[in-house]
Amino acid sequence: MKTIIIKDKKFTELFSEQELKDIVTACAQKIKRTINETENLVLIGVLNGGIPFMNDIAFSLPENITIDYVRAVSYGDNTYSSGKVELLLDTQLDLRGKDVLIVDDIIDTGRTAKFLKDHFISKGAGSVRLCCLFYKKGTLVEEPEYFGSYIGDDFIVGYGLDYAQKGRNLKNILKLSD
Ligand code: IMP
Ligand code: MG
Repeated sequence: MKTIIIKDKKFTELFSEQELKDIVTACAQKIKRTINETENLVLIGVLNGGIPFMNDIAFSLPENITIDYVRAVSYGDNTYSSGKVELLLDTQLDLRGKDVLIVDDIIDTGRTAKFLKDHFISKGAGSVRLCCLFYKKGTLVEEPEYFGSYIGDDFIVGYGLDYAQKGRNLKNILKLSD
């Protein structure tokens, strides 16, 4: 079993690099299959955790999509949500009539996703859909239109996901094992 220490905590592998690749590819394929009209599609990645997933999703789509990022935080340096979402960086794009696809690493409580959905709708988006790599079954949003894998109540790191800003550059997914 692969185990690493990040700061004060021990993490063990949940998905290997290959398993993660398979999850990401299946999700990207589903988006490709089901979204035919991409001229109006705006992928909005959620910094910082959503970057690797956003790259892989975007590389699998046609060249006429638009890509931008917002920065939202809710976790601070903890392994639990603070309960409050803060938008630290907004998009400057004109979203009126656009089909927005939010791309994030994980949905836990669903607060970030709900906040961003409402935010983009208030900016005039024609539709707002959600794509996340992992889904912890948050109570505030219904199941995302696209997600890679359901996970239990684990706190995980890797492929964008951090613990206190560490572990984002891991190519596999590890879970807290204390
Ligand atoms: P939510 O608003 O509670 O759904 O939390 C969403 C955000 O919290 C995600 O975009 C992540 O940045 C962070 N987060 C939630 N669960 C985890 C985790 O298990 N590991 C690392 N970050 C997480
Ligand atoms: Mg995040």
